[in-house]
Amino acid sequence: MQYAEITGWGKYTPPTVLSNEEMTTFVDTSDEWISTRTGIKERRISHINTAEMSAIACEHALASAGLSADDIDLIIVATCTPDLLVPNTASKVQELLGTNNSACFDINAACSGFLYGLQNASAQIHVGMAKKVLLVGAERMSWFVNWQDRQTAVLFGDGAGAVVLEATDEKVGLLESKSSCDSNSREILKVLGMGTDIDIYKEPLGPLTIQFMGPDIFKRAVKGMGMATNTVMEKANLKVEDINLLIPHQANLRIIETLQNKLKLTDDQCMVNIQKYGNTSAATVPLALCEAVEQGKIKPYDNIISAAFGAGLTCNASYIKWGKRVTPVNEFAGKEQACDKTAKELLAHAIADLKK
Ligand code: UT7
Repeated sequence: MQYAEITGWGKYTPPTVLSNEEMTTFVDTSDEWISTRTGIKERRISHINTAEMSAIACEHALASAGLSADDIDLIIVATCTPDLLVPNTASKVQELLGTNNSACFDINAACSGFLYGLQNASAQIHVGMAKKVLLVGAERMSWFVNWQDRQTAVLFGDGAGAVVLEATDEKVGLLESKSSCDSNSREILKVLGMGTDIDIYKEPLGPLTIQFMGPDIFKRAVKGMGMATNTVMEKANLKVEDINLLIPHQANLRIIETLQNKLKLTDDQCMVNIQKYGNTSAATVPLALCEAVEQGKIKPYDNIISAAFGAGLTCNASYIKWGKRVTPVNEFAGKEQACDKTAKELLAHAIADLKK
């Protein structure tokens, strides 16, 4: 069997920052409430779409792996905020990368999407169907947000993270993984306004709105991520002391701390960046993974546990064994797209009615 090593990593975080303080000028909330209840201090608002963010993250990941886009035989984009329903976002990413050599598809498992994607990409490499895969988690969540709903408006942000997976004989990469879905509770987290659920002969599409039973999801996320992590550790014969780093989905600092305490990990062993980006859904895990390598938190052959929970209600926990290399082969030399607008300017259309 071939294993699927993570040989490249890259991210795109939009340049425009929306701080809690700035948000209080148009949402009925406070920095104190957001910080203490969620751990979020600020989030990014993107001026470009999901495919464009993905492509920049991919350019970084390809440079980091020392590969070109032509070397890749499969591109998977995990997202619930696609540019279009058809064609898929992955095909746009391929076009932006200037290649034509890969298969392309999207995965929608909401916040668990990147880890669902990692399981699928690794499986294709394990059985020899693919050799080199680009896997992206990317979201433009600001596009869904109803700025009149303070419970959800404060939570989400935009961004993208990508990894390159390559076939290897060495026993590294995703070594154990557990995905699940509790469809009985799928109603407690959804985005309304789009899709064939709507009888377009009676009602128009949109506006898009996140509907969300926060406290219920909170409890289920704590339980679901904890149980999936136990299962994966048992299957992999891993003890708590074997874990070097936890990379949890970044939905709420209190959820992260509960999992961290359960695994008896120190702050240094738990990757947290929710304060900077908020909940970027499928992008949180690859963004946190990229920053963990950049910050030297990942050492050669480290044992990493990652867990995520999201709409569906989907859940995944994964055991990743890092490979030998923890520094990029090359740095992406291209230019990133600058933006001279403030967050409020970017959101002007969406928040225009709020003060009326
Ligand atoms: O990524 C997918 C998975 N997502 C998650 O796992 C998210 C899970 N849920 C959560 O993180 C939390 O439930 C929230 C952060 C969404 C909410 O936190 P909470 O501690 O569960 O607050 P709550 O909904 O129970 O609301 C408590 C109070 C309420 O006021 P009263 O009724 O006690 O007077 C809310 O109206 O906080 C109020 N509130 C706010 N106040 C200021 C709710 N949102 C806000 C806000 N600013 N943004």
